[in-house]
Amino acid sequence: MKKRRSAVYPGSFDPITNGHIDLVHRALKIFDDLTIAVLVNPKKTPLFSLQERMEIIKEVFKHESRVKVDYFEGLLIDFLKKKKSNIVIRGLRAVSDFELEFQMALINRKLSPEFETFFMVPGLNYTFLNSSVIKEIYSFGGRAPDLVPPIVEKYLIERFKK
Ligand code: PNS
Repeated sequence: MKKRRSAVYPGSFDPITNGHIDLVHRALKIFDDLTIAVLVNPKKTPLFSLQERMEIIKEVFKHESRVKVDYFEGLLIDFLKKKKSNIVIRGLRAVSDFELEFQMALINRKLSPEFETFFMVPGLNYTFLNSSVIKEIYSFGGRAPDLVPPIVEKYLIERFKK
């Protein structure tokens, strides 16, 4: 029987944007299933709790059975070992992403030699997009409905309601 190709897509996803979603759909053309792994980072205070971030992602992919949603704390390589996976998907939007992503990929491989990072480029419409920009727009009352899914827009409007 052919072995299933599984990958992990880690990130803060605070909140997930259409750029992340675009990348998931691209990855599903290559991998049989994908685990979106939401980071619990004790050093940061996210806008959305872990539960909210996971709830949003589950809603976005409720019709895609090949996408699983999970969370992790600590080292990414430990989560991968737990999941019996060795492939991580990361998006590269521009050259500016490269330095940090390159460092993370090599550190992870140093910690776990079988670790592989699979870099993917999102659609051109999303190269300027990240979660921080989205939070800033909505915090000042702006709207960007073509950059986030409707459920994220709903959560953002609710969170920044005066
Ligand atoms: O969405 P983000 O914030 O760019 O995702 C960053 C993430 C979660 C991939 C990265 O911070 C991470 O893997 N954190 C876990 C800690 C870890 O494993 N550190 C060692 C490698 S640098």
